[in-house]
Amino acid sequence: MIVLPALPYAYDALQPVVSETTMRTHHDKHHARYVEVTNQMLADTPGEQGPLEQVVTRAWHRGARKLFNNAAQALNHGFFWDCMSPHLAPPSGDLAQALGRAFGGDARAEFIAQGLGHFGSGWVWLTAERGVLSIVTTHDGDTVLRHEGVTPLLVCDLWEHAYYLDYRNDRGAYLSGWWDGAANWAFAQRQYEASLGRAEGWAYPAVPVAATASA
Ligand code: FE2
Repeated sequence: MIVLPALPYAYDALQPVVSETTMRTHHDKHHARYVEVTNQMLADTPGEQGPLEQVVTRAWHRGARKLFNNAAQALNHGFFWDCMSPHLAPPSGDLAQALGRAFGGDARAEFIAQGLGHFGSGWVWLTAERGVLSIVTTHDGDTVLRHEGVTPLLVCDLWEHAYYLDYRNDRGAYLSGWWDGAANWAFAQRQYEASLGRAEGWAYPAVPVAATASA
C-alpha cells in the first residue's frame, strides 16, 4: 500500500512561484491519482509489494509499463515536494564547490536550458554520482531514482500540469522562477551527503507525513 504523503509546507507557501491552486491540483489530484492507480494495480498483483522504489525498479525490469508509469510518477512527485521550500538559501559548502566544478557557475543556466529543451512531459534533475554532478532529463514518468549509483539532488516537474495554470506556455519563466524562488538547497545538500555515503538518502514515505503547516 503506497501512501500519499502530505506536503511539507502549506499549499500557499511557495507563492508566487507556485500558486495555491496549482499546488492543490498537483498534489491532491495528480499525485493522488498516481498513488491510487498504483495501489489498484498492486492489489491486483499478489506478491507485488514493498517500498515504492522497489516496485518501480521491478516494474521497469519486467516491462510492466502501466505500473511503472504510475508508480514512478508517485515516486517522482514525493521527491519533488521535498525539492521545494519557502525557506530559501543558496548552495553552500562542498555542494557549492561541486556545482562550480561541474558547471563553472552556470548550473542555473544549464538546468533551465535542459528543462526548456526537453520535448514534452518529463523531469529535469540535478544528480550526483561518485561526487560528480550532472543535469539530465527523463521522459514522462521515467526516473533517475531507478538508476543504481545515481543520487538525485533536485528535480523540477516539466509536465504542463506543474506550471500551465501559473505560466501558461512559458516553461522558461517557470524554470527560472523555480530555481530562484523554490529550490531547496538544504535538501540538495543532504542528498549530496548521501551520495558520498555520509548520510541516509531520501526515501518515499512509508506512512503519511504530517504537514508542518496545514492548509
Ligand atoms: Fe507533476
